[in-house]
Amino acid sequence: MKFFIDTANLNQIREAQDLGVLDGVTTNPSLMAKEGITGRKNILQHYLDICNIVDGDVSAEVVATDFDGIVEEGTELAKLHDQIVVKVPMIKEGVKAIKYFTSKGIKTNCTLVFSAGQALLAAKAGATYVSPFLGRLDDISTDGLNLIEEIRLIYDNYEFETQILAASIRHTMHVINCAKLGADVMTGPLSSIDGLLKHPLTDSGLAKFLEDAKSFI
Ligand code: G3P
Repeated sequence: MKFFIDTANLNQIREAQDLGVLDGVTTNPSLMAKEGITGRKNILQHYLDICNIVDGDVSAEVVATDFDGIVEEGTELAKLHDQIVVKVPMIKEGVKAIKYFTSKGIKTNCTLVFSAGQALLAAKAGATYVSPFLGRLDDISTDGLNLIEEIRLIYDNYEFETQILAASIRHTMHVINCAKLGADVMTGPLSSIDGLLKHPLTDSGLAKFLEDAKSFI
């Protein structure tokens, strides 16, 4: 299972990278705005800064919603760095653009996916990644994990190569349950990765080992 971090914060990206388990980064316009990054030039530079910290794929989202606009914006993003994955919303024009990018060998991440039907379309268009937003489904009392399970079944039935990128992860149990269900990738905040480290028996066990080791010195 690949671990992506879902943030545009360079310090958090560095911290996750330093742990040695990071496989990539996902961003979206809200996460970029949260870091106070404005203006096309600064936004493009920020994506480059992220690519220079991590080794893996970095999703950069288009904001155009028409085919020509998505293609123009996505092509510019893809030219920035070979780690860039063009993130495209699950709308009709987006599906057409994903098909176009696929034909040009440009990697894509189909975002804002909330149903199995949408995930099927993304795979048919050849998306590299599909991003079902499980936390946002949970927010409206719908089982987000069930969607991951449905997509896994459909993709396995037809051997689609599109990778399931479980997005809108909020906590460690989302990560663990997505791993059980066979999601290819998870993207979440740093806390969802750090949380996997924690167990009180690890802490108390280490404290006892260190106490007993004092006599060795
Ligand atoms: O990057 C897309 C997705 O992960 C957003 O998550 O927490 O805003 O629902 P969230």
